[in-house]
Amino acid sequence: MSILVTGAAGFIGANLAKRLLTEFDEVQVVGVDNLSDYYDTRLKEERLKELSQYGERFVFVKGNIADKPLIEQLFDEYKFKTAVNLAAQAGVRYSITNPDAYIESNIIGFYNILEACRHHGVEHLVYASSSSVYGSNKKVPYSTDDKVDNPVSLYAATKKSNELMAHAYSKLYNIPSTGLRFFTVYGPCGRPDMAYFGFTNKLLKGEKIQIFNYGNCKRDFTYVDDIVEGIVRVMQHAPEKQVGEDGLPIPPYKVYNIGNNSPENLLDFVQILQEELISAGVLPADYDFEAHKELVPMQPGDVPVTYADTSALEADFGFKPHTSLREGLRKFAEWYKEFYG
Ligand SMILES: NC(=O)c1ccc[n+]([C@@H]2O[C@H](COP(=O)([O-])OP(=O)(O)OC[C@H]3O[C@@H](n4cnc5c(N)ncnc54)[C@H](O)[C@@H]3O)[C@@H](O)[C@H]2O)c1
Repeated sequence: MSILVTGAAGFIGANLAKRLLTEFDEVQVVGVDNLSDYYDTRLKEERLKELSQYGERFVFVKGNIADKPLIEQLFDEYKFKTAVNLAAQAGVRYSITNPDAYIESNIIGFYNILEACRHHGVEHLVYASSSSVYGSNKKVPYSTDDKVDNPVSLYAATKKSNELMAHAYSKLYNIPSTGLRFFTVYGPCGRPDMAYFGFTNKLLKGEKIQIFNYGNCKRDFTYVDDIVEGIVRVMQHAPEKQVGEDGLPIPPYKVYNIGNNSPENLLDFVQILQEELISAGVLPADYDFEAHKELVPMQPGDVPVTYADTSALEADFGFKPHTSLREGLRKFAEWYKEFYG
């Protein structure tokens, strides 16, 4: 059985591919990634190196999901029943200055995946959405029942658009689809554009870290293994195909939050990160953190709090993320020490 994972050299994609190849002997993973240089590509090469241990069970295709003939050819060749779309231009701040990348990967690329699912009888499309669709929603925790029509970044707008496009395809062509709104994912070999990784790089160089909104931000930090566990459970249960009273299909369409359901204050997060960086030997025990911290105002596109309501995920899949920030940041710090020395 071949499963498509787009964004397979990415942080979440590589972790998902590894988990699928480790746990399911009969599975072959076809991973597509254009190895974009949005961040240091050595991390992507490192992730692919780890996946190469699975031999022919992991097929890597360097390519762009915005390349329609390529996507068409892959679906034709491998007859995927399940496709997981994680390829995207990620990042909220980058979308303010580089909108083209978001339209190409997140809109055109996603459209190509939908079209391929439509023409090749895919039984379940799982795709990454994001907590950023909640914009500056005041009500917490964020529920998938909340109205999310006010994105505060183009990134968020593309992710919400993915959910709308998937809904239309589920309704029109009866394609089962599940969108997953991930909340601030972190872990070993993660993304250097994210706070925990960027802070670590800066502290190591003796630079100051900027803590936005004067530290009054709360994030539902979610450890990557919890995200992968959620995806793996969801992948195996496509929304049911049903027919409505009008004789037309009721769209087999679902959206879930995957977040820790326990937001942490940014200053507490920085404190734990500091302690774990010292324990792992990344920074010396006498590091002067106070001299390297700067409290600054909120940034455009940012939101003060993210907090996932995971009750639907728990009800349908009996699972909610549970890794503590300390445990997760410890694994990150240990990995960082080993990778960068
Ligand atoms: N990490 C998070 O905190 C987080 C939170 C919410 C949503 N998400 C979403 O989860 C998914 C995975 O995120 P990630 O953190 O692993 O990011 P990532 O940047 O590490 O992975 C995405 C991968 O997609 C590839 N890619 C980008 N555009 C492509 C294209 N047009 N064709 C083929 N490959 C392309 C990139 O090279 C990258 O390796 C993304 O859709 C992201 O928007 C991530």
